[in-house]
Amino acid sequence: ARVDDNGDLKALIRTIPDFPKPGIQFRDITTLLLDPVGLARCVERMVAATEGPIDLVAGIEARGFLFAAALAVPLKAGVLLIRKDGKLPGATIAEDYALEYGQDRIAMHADACAPGARVLLIDDLIATGGTARAAVRLLRKAGASVAQAQFLVDLPDLGGAALLRDDGVVVHALVS
Ligand code: PRP
Ligand code: ADE
Repeated sequence: ARVDDNGDLKALIRTIPDFPKPGIQFRDITTLLLDPVGLARCVERMVAATEGPIDLVAGIEARGFLFAAALAVPLKAGVLLIRKDGKLPGATIAEDYALEYGQDRIAMHADACAPGARVLLIDDLIATGGTARAAVRLLRKAGASVAQAQFLVDLPDLGGAALLRDDGVVVHALVS
């Protein structure tokens, strides 16, 4: 079903139980991405929620990349890629973070941003906040000013957005 003018973005996101593990309710945004009106509305709302001038939009692999490029064009900003470690070709800096089970590591090019660059962090979803908080640590290590983060979906019961706010970031999500 396509979203109409009064439609809710939430209705375009489906829940797949027990993916990728038993007990996880996976919020699947691929159905929203398929909807041209819903997708455009997401981008418009994220652009409208952005405060002040932005030099770079940092997108987190993989689904964060989709929104990072879409926002960077109207915001007249560049795109900075935050990738899973081992994917970027140049010299990188990396940051470890905790997942539900074990650890992972994200990386960015060490020379990707000028000192003091105003960076907007984007991802499709924040859950525990482990990924986004590691991205903020990484960007700040690189000299960036990270004042804002935006997500399509916040899962507030998992507490990530609150932790990210404690890190001094203004957090905005379109759907909770
Ligand atoms: C998902 C999502 C966020 C992260 C949120 O990515 O896109 O990046 O999990 O979880 P957290 O707040 O608990 O850290 P995933 O690691 O599944 O990678 P993908 O986008 O490459 O599929
Ligand atoms: N990333 C972490 N938790 C998730 C969930 N419940 N649905 C989709 N992506 C996620």
